[in-house]
Amino acid sequence: MEVFTGNANRNLAEKICDYLDIQLGNIDVGRFNDGECMVKINQDVRGKDIFIVQPTCAPVNDNLMELLIMIDAFVRASAERITAVIPYFGYARQDRKDQGRVPISAKLVANLLVSSGVDRVLAMDLHAGQIQGFFDIPVDHIYSNPVFIGYFKSKDFDGLENMVVVSPDVGGIKMARAFAKKLECGLAIVDKRRVSSDTAHVMNVIGDVKGKNVMIVDDIIATAGSVQEAAIALKEQGAKKIFVSATHPVLAPPAIERLENSPIEKIFLSNTIPVPSDKMSSKIHILSVSPVLGEAIRRIHNKQSVSSLFI
Ligand code: R5P
Repeated sequence: MEVFTGNANRNLAEKICDYLDIQLGNIDVGRFNDGECMVKINQDVRGKDIFIVQPTCAPVNDNLMELLIMIDAFVRASAERITAVIPYFGYARQDRKDQGRVPISAKLVANLLVSSGVDRVLAMDLHAGQIQGFFDIPVDHIYSNPVFIGYFKSKDFDGLENMVVVSPDVGGIKMARAFAKKLECGLAIVDKRRVSSDTAHVMNVIGDVKGKNVMIVDDIIATAGSVQEAAIALKEQGAKKIFVSATHPVLAPPAIERLENSPIEKIFLSNTIPVPSDKMSSKIHILSVSPVLGEAIRRIHNKQSVSSLFI
């Protein structure tokens, strides 16, 4: 087994290798003078079980192209099996035609990956679980929630008492319900309407949050419009402390201003996407999902069950 990475999130790949107690594979992933992606594998990989860690976060198209070209290089270097480890799967929110004359970009990305010659995909908290079916190769879809739940149940987190888990929209109910079950607390739902790509309006809060601490659970914080609006509505309904837990810190502008100016007390995010220092806020706390990804990689390599990690 060998683990390689491109430029999307080297720190996460190093942490995964630490978990697996192996060295990160030796590869150059850079640019030619004209901007085209340049890849050179600096070690023999013939017959090896290869895992390429590369979230397709911003710069999305560069990171996606690096991944495709790395896969091509491993195919041509006679690797036995290639698994794309995509902790954050970009373009996932374009997963259906929700209006006329728009693409289904998530399906196109799946087609590109399969065409490049990848054998398997390992993804975390896909925006829509159905994206697994866009691939005609095995996809292991894993969850970050053991990491978040473990932290919220630990003595490092003060707020679990009298807690209600909140889904910021109807689409997130399944994820929020899993949290509520594991944290043994109630569930409320925000009825959100998206008016544009960066603006959402809250219509109703379904459930009782008065006098309770709330944990808004979401898969992605992009412009933070959803959680900001939800937090304001929850405060108006009498919520006490408001926390946010989200897997993928996309943090597109104006996310940081919105989070800073919201009634949210603390935002827990994972490291599927690197958060540069200019996007950091004292409200943000990053939890590492490298143990879950590392364990899934170990089990795939050893032909052991991955789903049993989440029972
Ligand atoms: C929506 O369906 C997603 O689960 C997230 O709530 C959404 O993508 C977050 O976007 P933003 O932070 O821009 O509101």
